[in-house]
Amino acid sequence: MRLLVTGGAGFIGANFVHGAVGEHAVTVLDALTYAGSRESLAPVDDDIRLVQGDIADAELVTKLVAEADAVVHFAAETHVDNALADPEPFLHTNVIGTYTVLEAVRRHGVRLHHISTDEVYGDLALDEPARFTAATPYNPSSPYSSTKAAADMLVRAWVRSYGVRATISNCSNNYGPYQHVEKFIPRQITNVLTGRRPKLYGAGTNVRDWIHVDDHNSAVWRILTDGQIGRTYLIGAEGERDNLSVMRTILALMDRDPDDFDHVVDRVGHDLRYAIDPSQLCDELGWKPRRTDFQEGLSATIDWYRDSESWWRPLKEQVESTYQMRGQ
Ligand code: NAD
Ligand code: DAU
Repeated sequence: MRLLVTGGAGFIGANFVHGAVGEHAVTVLDALTYAGSRESLAPVDDDIRLVQGDIADAELVTKLVAEADAVVHFAAETHVDNALADPEPFLHTNVIGTYTVLEAVRRHGVRLHHISTDEVYGDLALDEPARFTAATPYNPSSPYSSTKAAADMLVRAWVRSYGVRATISNCSNNYGPYQHVEKFIPRQITNVLTGRRPKLYGAGTNVRDWIHVDDHNSAVWRILTDGQIGRTYLIGAEGERDNLSVMRTILALMDRDPDDFDHVVDRVGHDLRYAIDPSQLCDELGWKPRRTDFQEGLSATIDWYRDSESWWRPLKEQVESTYQMRGQ
């Protein structure tokens, strides 16, 4: 397949591209914002075409889509704390950018897989057994999740109104190599590695449903090849954990005292709990997550950050000074 991967220089997109080369001709379209990096694609540099550009640039997107058999659309503004501070780039990329991609695939009849998030469903109470399913109503809480929800709605409407051949997936929290140090797990690992104290928002009771990035991407492949057009698939790996226990696991794996961290100002409107019921994807498409041993996955991720200081070190000071200004 000739694949156009938007956001392929970001965390999940880069891991996806690493797995796609060899079998497929890959073009990456990425604006290389603060979150994207050429270095994340260095291992596959000779095997891909990297085009630096904005997914809201209709002329560029239309030209690249015309040359593709399928588009996997990862590009987005993704960090909740940044959205709270300044929502505008989230509207531009997540809404106008997705609209631009949709118009291009409509024009050229190209297959689209749209990557989305479980945050579109809002949050769950801490003390209830319920999990998100494809039938859960959308109820986004933040400027980030509301723009992702808007993008999902555009995709659904373009399928119904124009017959666009698209699928959507909503995945839970990813972790693994090449994740930006602004995000929870890499932030704490690199805090320890740089002699800073890790930072926990509020009491740390909020629950996230962790999945290794390789499992997210294997599900994306399965949906891209076998998914039913127009359908939404939820991706998760039964990985619910509260933030405090993730923090303590990181500290234990890095031989630190389990209380060696600071509680900092909580996130405004902080979603309490996310949890995905992945049974539909498993039953219908026969997908199974493989990297479900969280300690093992976290330990490999810590090793990756230890060995890849040149990748994250240039980002760290700026990220921490922004957090410091926000009291986090
Ligand atoms: P990321 O922030 O690491 O990467 C985003 C990439 O998109 C970057 O390379 C950036 O340069 C690029 N980009 C941003 N604006 C662009 C624009 N206007 N034009 C072209 N490229 C642009 O994000 P990620 O964590 O890899 O997330 C990828 C996708 O997966 C997003 O759609 C996100 O909503 C979704 N998602 C993420 C998670 C998670 O836990 N990280 C979970 C579920 C879904
Ligand atoms: O659920 C999927 C979503 O997961 C994706 O759609 C988003 O793009 C991705 O960023 C992620 O969103 P979260 O807000 O859950 O991830 P983040 O890594 O920012 O935070 C995870 C949890 O850890 C959250 O409850 C806030 C908390 N946290 C975060 C940071 C950065 C801390 O306690 N300390 C921190 O320093």
